[in-house]
Amino acid sequence: MDLDHAQLDRDHVWHPFTQQQSWCEEEPLLIERGEGSFLIDNDGRRYLDGVSSLWCNVHGHGHERIDTAVSDQLGKIAHTTMLGLSHPAAAELAGRLVDLTPPGLSRVFYSESGSTATEIALKMAFQYQQQRGGQHARRTSVCHLRDSYHGDTIGSVSVGGIDLFHSTYRPLLFRTHAAEPGDAVDLERVLAVHEEEIAAVIVEPLVQGAAGMLTHPPGYLRAVRELCDRFGVLLICDEVATGFGRTGKMFACEHEGVEPDLLCLAKGLTGGYLPLAATLATERIYEGFLGAPEQYRTFFHGHTYTGNPLACAAALASLDAFEQEQTIDRLQAKIELLWGLLAEVESMPEVTEIRGRGVMVGIDLGAHDPSLRLGHQVTLEARKRGAIIRPLSDVVVLMPPLSISEEELQSLVEIVRESIRVACAEIRPAQLAQAAA
Ligand SMILES: Cc1ncc(COP(=O)(O)O)c(C=O)c1O
Repeated sequence: MDLDHAQLDRDHVWHPFTQQQSWCEEEPLLIERGEGSFLIDNDGRRYLDGVSSLWCNVHGHGHERIDTAVSDQLGKIAHTTMLGLSHPAAAELAGRLVDLTPPGLSRVFYSESGSTATEIALKMAFQYQQQRGGQHARRTSVCHLRDSYHGDTIGSVSVGGIDLFHSTYRPLLFRTHAAEPGDAVDLERVLAVHEEEIAAVIVEPLVQGAAGMLTHPPGYLRAVRELCDRFGVLLICDEVATGFGRTGKMFACEHEGVEPDLLCLAKGLTGGYLPLAATLATERIYEGFLGAPEQYRTFFHGHTYTGNPLACAAALASLDAFEQEQTIDRLQAKIELLWGLLAEVESMPEVTEIRGRGVMVGIDLGAHDPSLRLGHQVTLEARKRGAIIRPLSDVVVLMPPLSISEEELQSLVEIVRESIRVACAEIRPAQLAQAAA
């Protein structure tokens, strides 16, 4: 019997960040396969993966090296726990990550998502300050940036600043202090006023992705580091979105030579293959947790699938691919091409602004009536033309896999340009009719 997957989806699946009422009114697109920069649906139609399957695919779909690494690992074991045991892939990957990330980070704590990577960093920072004792034990709050996004668990939502996603949960959240994005003077003000209560500052370095690719001015991240040092506060860099090449360097921190105390990685860690995240810490923080078991300085946190071997094997193969395919070096020409192509899009009357860095792009269509769902209309037009994108409200996001070819990049931008033109042309009469009513 042929299953009607679309109907089963409508009947039973509850999708993330999705208004199910509208979802069920549309025909769901079912992706069955992937090949390089392309997603292939159940009717065999091919689409450019314009947002890297939610910002995580790096080397393309069906990458031979990663496929082989995962199936080799599958031949050994699919899962074993990291609680009380270890396994070779987790140990090797930890060493590789320490070598690859900014100096000073020496310890790797695994989890499965960006949300948990930041949740863990927040708990580590808090517990570290508690265990330092004395006046540090009063550091029970965290400073974050307005419009920030660090995930969906209650801790990561507490340091989130996007009202649309976060305001409902306010009564459940812990108290934080917010500073203006990209404004070092404002951060200094917040730290000066709340100096003794803040355990850590958490930032998305360079680009606040979910805020609509909001970019910080050059030198801001360095200033944040200096302020954290001046006020004795830990710096957590959330590179869940910016990590693994998206800004043109392996990590966004490298652009300003910044060494965080805690670093959060996820999304691209496995090349976009499997759920794996890592929170890296300095030796100083790690040592703050050492002691006899009965001193209870242990970090009491860990998930069933923490450090899953299949995911670690994928991550190791992805790091090999970065080296062997010189992914970061080869990306530079593509970034130049991309921003050259975007200059034309920016000159369109429908576009207010284009923001971003590297291969993280937000095409802002300006303020529109939310009921028009302009960003979504652009997505539907792009789909008809062979590209998958996903907007943040009326900001059209592009974040292709780093492996995308120059021809594919050209065709992606062309599709998006045409989709914006058509979607906006169709929506204007509707807006006029609404204004007249
Ligand atoms: C900067 C940042 N942090 C954390 C997260 C949460 O990651 P996940 O969706 O894997 O929980 C995201 C997701 O977009 C992100 O952009």
